[in-house]
Formats: sequence, structure tokens, C-alpha cells
Amino acid sequence: MRIVLATRNPNKPREFRASWPEADFVGLDVVGIEGDAPEEEPTFAGNARSKALWTAARAPGVAVLADDSGLEVGALGGAPGVRSRRFAPEATDTANNALLLRRLQGIEDRQAAFVCALCLALPNGRIIEVEGRVDGQIGTTARGKDGFGYDPLFLPVGGHGRSMAEMSLAEKAALSHRGRAIERLRAHQDLRTS
Ligand code: IMP
Repeated sequence: MRIVLATRNPNKPREFRASWPEADFVGLDVVGIEGDAPEEEPTFAGNARSKALWTAARAPGVAVLADDSGLEVGALGGAPGVRSRRFAPEATDTANNALLLRRLQGIEDRQAAFVCALCLALPNGRIIEVEGRVDGQIGTTARGKDGFGYDPLFLPVGGHGRSMAEMSLAEKAALSHRGRAIERLRAHQDLRTS
């Protein structure tokens, strides 16, 4: 199945392809979509749906997959949450990670979770929505060179003390929020019968 990925984040397509090798993922450029989908909902699921529907309206006849994801930190009341990409004013990975470490300075409770909401809009008008999550801890220093975003600070449960940026693409896919959400999507009954 050909699926348009409704994202301009260059890191997400790599992870989708690793977790779903049979799908023929193409970028927004391939279907000639310019501009950015709105992302103003208070939940990951709401944002994923709004990105998928906005894109589907501009790419009739093809399946569209949107991902909205982020980091929820318990001691910060769930922040940065849906604002993960724009947590620091500079909105870069480096600035976001530095701000996260500053906010958690002196705080012992480092529990956090990555959440990924996926919305697949099928050409027949059906919508499939799934979510994936991975619990973990926020480290005290950035470690590793792979991945993106908060990966260097996130130590997932089951990762043997390594940050997500110290894992290969396949290792991250096996335990990440995105890998788990894709697994649920692939197994979804509506996708098998559509
Ligand atoms: P979105 O593109 O609006 O969904 O924003 C996602 C943001 O959440 C990214 O810019 C990262 O800061 C963070 N994020 C989401 N998924 C991951 C991940 O797999 N690793 C690290 N950071 C992530």
C-alpha cells in the first residue's frame, strides 16, 4: 500500500520504514503538498487526526498517515507533552534538551513516557487511530548520537540503562512508542479488511 507520510520531520520516515518495511511510504513532496497542517489540539490523538485530515483533503485517493508524538514528564505535570517540539523558545533539539535538564535540576523523580498517536486516513474515508507508549526515566546528561529529539536523555524501560540515542534504528523500533503504535496499526482489523 502506498502511504503519504504527513510530516516534515526527516527522522520519522526512517522509523516508519524500519517498523513497516512492506509499506510504500512517500513524502509530502511526492504528492506536491505545500504548507503545514495545523497542530493546535490539546492531545496527541487530536493533532494526529487534524494533520491526517488536512493532508488527506489535499491528496485525494491515497492513504495518509500522520504522527503526533512527544514526551510526558511526571514531575513536570506531563510537560512538554503536545508542545515537545516547541518546548524551548528556539525549538531546537539542543535547546529543548537543555531546558528539560534545567527544569529537572535537583528533582529526584525522573519518570517520563514517550507517546505516539497515529492516524491513518484511508482513501475510502475510513480513519484508523492507534497510540503507542514507552515508559522510562530522564537521564542527567545527554548520551548517544543516534535518533532525534529527546532520545539522548530518555532511558526506556527494557533498554538496559542505555538512552534511546545509544540504540540502533531496529533496537529503538522494537521498544519505542512509535514502533508500538505502528505494530498496533499493522494489526488493526480495519486495515486488513479495507
Ligand atoms: P511533532 O512532530 O509535533 O509530533 O513533535 C514531536 C516532537 O516530540 C519532536 O520534535 C521531539 O522533540 C519529540 N519526540 C517525538 N518522538 C520522539 C522520539 O522518538 N524521540 C525523541 N523525541 C521525540
